[in-house]
Amino acid sequence: RKPVTVPSLRAMKAEGRRIVMLTCYDASFAAQLEMAGIDVALVGDSLGMVIQGHKSTLPVTLDHMVYHTSIVSRGLDATLLIADLPFMADRDVAHVLEAGAQLVGEGGAAMVKIEGASPHILEAITALVERAIPVCAHLGLTPQSVHKFGGFRIQGRAQDAADRLVEDAKAVEAAGADLLVLEGIPTALGERITRAVSIPTIGIGAGPHCDGQVLVLHDMLAVTPGKRPKFSKDFLAGRDSVAAAIAAYAEDVRSGAFPAPEHGFD
Ligand code: KIV
Ligand code: NA
Repeated sequence: RKPVTVPSLRAMKAEGRRIVMLTCYDASFAAQLEMAGIDVALVGDSLGMVIQGHKSTLPVTLDHMVYHTSIVSRGLDATLLIADLPFMADRDVAHVLEAGAQLVGEGGAAMVKIEGASPHILEAITALVERAIPVCAHLGLTPQSVHKFGGFRIQGRAQDAADRLVEDAKAVEAAGADLLVLEGIPTALGERITRAVSIPTIGIGAGPHCDGQVLVLHDMLAVTPGKRPKFSKDFLAGRDSVAAAIAAYAEDVRSGAFPAPEHGFD
């Protein structure tokens, strides 16, 4: 398998080939993603919830992220590795650059993900890109803003909020981001943003019209305790191995079978 690279992700959007992304937190599961031909592995700060048992992603530290990124990187070969900047690592550009240096230099990530599009985030995206650290932006229901949102709520339902997210998407692209995760927004807005930018969009609870999809690994294997989120799907159901579940997810994203309309929001 040819290595997935940042330029090859853009080529996939241009050619209409859907990008398959999954979260991952350790070397053994990384090897499963690699064998299944997953395009991108994301060491998400969702690890605060599914690995550490917290109620939000806010307690995750940069040291936690560097540790998990480094152990995931040992299980990967051709799959591209993205690591999240944790809560408040984006407090200013100096901290962003230090975090980027650790996640890429020590952790082995090829790209870092950063939530939001406020002025200091746009400045941080440009500062990373200028130092040859490619950036994945993340808009919509950005979990690090849970207290601002008053809970994990779908974003961009009102017309003005939707228009603002379209402008934010254009702004992160202009700042230099190479990829854009869209989380927890109406299906129609996911489609509108995907058309408005030339960088690939990766949806999670953002409908079927994004250029790719991502799920939390523990959700799609039905390992996460409690009720599965509406936008996710149990891919292990009816299958006899983790490998088969991950392969089915990849196949369904590439064919357009996942996400189905019922996984989206109005
Ligand atoms: O932390 C995470 O898992 C994420 C994805 C849900 C996009 O940011
Ligand atoms: Na995250």
